[in-house]
Amino acid sequence: MGYSDGSSVIREPVLADSQMPNTPFLRNCWYIAAATEEVTSAPMARRIAGERMVLYRTVGGAPVALIDECCHRGVPLHLGTVIDDSIQCAYHGFTFDPSGACIRVPSQKSPPPNARVRSFHVLERHGWVWVWPGARTPDPLLVPDFSEADGKGWTVTRGVLTYQAEYQHVVDNILDLSHVSFVHRSTFGSDDALAALSFKEIDGILHGVRAAPPMPTPPLYRRLGFSEQIRQTKEMIYIAPCHVKAPITTFDLSNVGGTENEDMPRQVTLCILNSPTPETAKTCHYFWASARNFDLGDETLTSLLREQTIKAFQEDQLIIEAEQRSRDEGFRGGFAVRADMGGRMARRILSRRLEQEAGDSPRVESNLANASRGSANPTASSLPMANYRSDGIC
Ligand code: FES
Ligand SMILES: [Fe+2]
Repeated sequence: MGYSDGSSVIREPVLADSQMPNTPFLRNCWYIAAATEEVTSAPMARRIAGERMVLYRTVGGAPVALIDECCHRGVPLHLGTVIDDSIQCAYHGFTFDPSGACIRVPSQKSPPPNARVRSFHVLERHGWVWVWPGARTPDPLLVPDFSEADGKGWTVTRGVLTYQAEYQHVVDNILDLSHVSFVHRSTFGSDDALAALSFKEIDGILHGVRAAPPMPTPPLYRRLGFSEQIRQTKEMIYIAPCHVKAPITTFDLSNVGGTENEDMPRQVTLCILNSPTPETAKTCHYFWASARNFDLGDETLTSLLREQTIKAFQEDQLIIEAEQRSRDEGFRGGFAVRADMGGRMARRILSRRLEQEAGDSPRVESNLANASRGSANPTASSLPMANYRSDGIC
């Protein structure tokens, strides 16, 4: 279950570029497509897992997601106009209802019976609009529990950044918190290199805990009034393909010896919700929310945390995009250490899901991929694999 030998280095075979393709996209799953407030009665374009989508709201406020290609000559529908619950193409006025059916062709009496565009399942939860690109019937219960973002007992701030990098590199980054003391030295940076690290897969969900011994209080927590030493437990809950809930619980310690102060047993949790939705094979929309369970009404603190969180994600962005460029330029090496365990186990889970998906409905998925130009849908077997054990020991 745990990982006991902190000095171990796990050598992996050198992988040629042909063995390190871009991460394939899982299709039968929920992805965050947009923040609730982004989707309005004005059509917006967004590419999700390779699919060009147009998003808008009906008169009643329901979100709609259609493929962003008119079935007549392929003009993007987001250039058109929403009329009542439907969207009218900007070129010749073909009009499509929320199911994708063409209900009007202005140049003739009635539309051809087979004229339609693809529609996607869509729902709204936790302040985001989610889409399901796959052919299988979606299960709303498969939306990750990001209920901290609902704001009951939590103060929430959120945003989205576009990274010029494969989404799985972002997942690797979130699951490998050993980068925090380097990349986030000026913000959340905590010197917890000696933290105990364990990962365990339960029912296809990866649970990780990084429990750090007493350490100097990082800059942000000093600004929150913490004393000179803290202890931190960072949890990571990964749900394939790209969702990671990461509650960070910080305990204030009273002295250099690391004894918890009975008179000031301060303990706070900052829960970071991460969802780097793949856009293309090499870009992603990194949706995030930061929820805290302390000082709920302190607006100055909200602004500070928002500013620091965005700064931290930009720090990640700089590094992850640099990693992507290096890979694009032919980086062929690479080996894993203890801290890479979470990312490797997550890739294993994703690989299994892709294999299942390919086995479930290869013909339907392949037809859909063909019908959705611009989407990448490589086979599961193209994922780089490593040697794993289900107990989390590489
Ligand atoms: S391209 Fe859309 S109506 Fe002609
Ligand atoms: Fe980071």
